[in-house]
Amino acid sequence: MTDLLPAVDLDSIVKLADFEPYARERMLGPAYDYVAGGAWDEVTLRESVEAWQAYRFVPRVLTDLRSIDPSGTFLGRASALPIATAPMAAQAMAHAGAEAEMAAAAGARGIPFCLSTSSSMSLEDVADAAPDGERWFQLYVIGGFDYSRRLVERAEAAGYRAIVLTVDLPVLGRRERDLRTGFVLPPMSHMDAADAERQHRYGGLDDQRIAGLTWETLDEVRSWSSLPLVLKGILSPADAARAADAGAAAIVVSTHGGRQLDRSISSAAALAGCVDAVDGRCEVWADGGIRRGLDVLTAIALGASGVLVGRPFYWALASGGRAGVEKAIDLLRAELAIALPLLGAASISDVTRELLA
Ligand SMILES: Cc1cc2nc3c(=O)[nH]c(=O)nc-3n(C[C@H](O)[C@H](O)[C@H](O)COP(=O)(O)O)c2cc1C
Repeated sequence: MTDLLPAVDLDSIVKLADFEPYARERMLGPAYDYVAGGAWDEVTLRESVEAWQAYRFVPRVLTDLRSIDPSGTFLGRASALPIATAPMAAQAMAHAGAEAEMAAAAGARGIPFCLSTSSSMSLEDVADAAPDGERWFQLYVIGGFDYSRRLVERAEAAGYRAIVLTVDLPVLGRRERDLRTGFVLPPMSHMDAADAERQHRYGGLDDQRIAGLTWETLDEVRSWSSLPLVLKGILSPADAARAADAGAAAIVVSTHGGRQLDRSISSAAALAGCVDAVDGRCEVWADGGIRRGLDVLTAIALGASGVLVGRPFYWALASGGRAGVEKAIDLLRAELAIALPLLGAASISDVTRELLA
């Protein structure tokens, strides 16, 4: 499909939203809908974008802006921006280079890349494509604890530096676009034949519930490696506090991009409550609907130390592979470099809740 279309002129792209029409042209219809869509009536999907836009800034003036620094930190390590790529399944549906291109782009631009359990490429091949970049492994506990433990051990051996355990997927959300198109996720690339058989037996991703992943079994997951554990998919302040108590290095306030429980509170609306509940005991990140540098700064002002960006990077990958994703990251950096001084902030650490109305 891609071969029939001319290469996208990346110079003509001025904001993240510009990538989506190109991706739509270049992807198969059911795959496009799988990525674009959400659960049930897609209320949370729509609100995830709008909720960031509902906040208003109160900028400060005459601060010292001679040097502007948009860099951030994740897990105590420097990142060129307070932005990481969200884990997203099956990136070969966007581009033949799949996760290798996404990881290489993130590495080249100095931001973390998070690989999905449901990736198109094996975690080792992705590591080879971006050996120097900060890489994390997102874990679904599927196929039982033994299989998951082996995945975590492989990720640690391949140089991934955090385990991002997704906790908002006891079962798959009701995604009606996929029901209509009959879309089925391609098999996971990490698997050997026995693993694939196990996935078949457990019915795919549904078995996080069956595996018995609970607060009580979290310690066991943590014991599989020495890597920091990040819990992704928290919206309740009580769960945020419990995650910090349980020794999580970070939480991701997330609705899974509106793909799980529709009518969930948006990340933008849930974030401040989770930040307050954690009270500095672990890092708080957020994702869902981040489309602008202004959204990034809103999340930072509410108390997040960083954000993950999902679909826009997927569309950028479909539009131009590694160069497309690099362009998307550059656009976010350019927006931050303008928005920070307009807010009266020289760096990310200057962006506090006082800058919001
Ligand atoms: C196509 C697609 C696949 C995804 N796959 C995963 C996944 O495998 N694991 C996971 O934890 N989250 C997954 N997510 C959720 C993202 O990590 C992230 O939470 C969400 O996309 C952020 O919202 P945004 O797309 O509005 O930026 C996926 C999202 C999309 C769009």
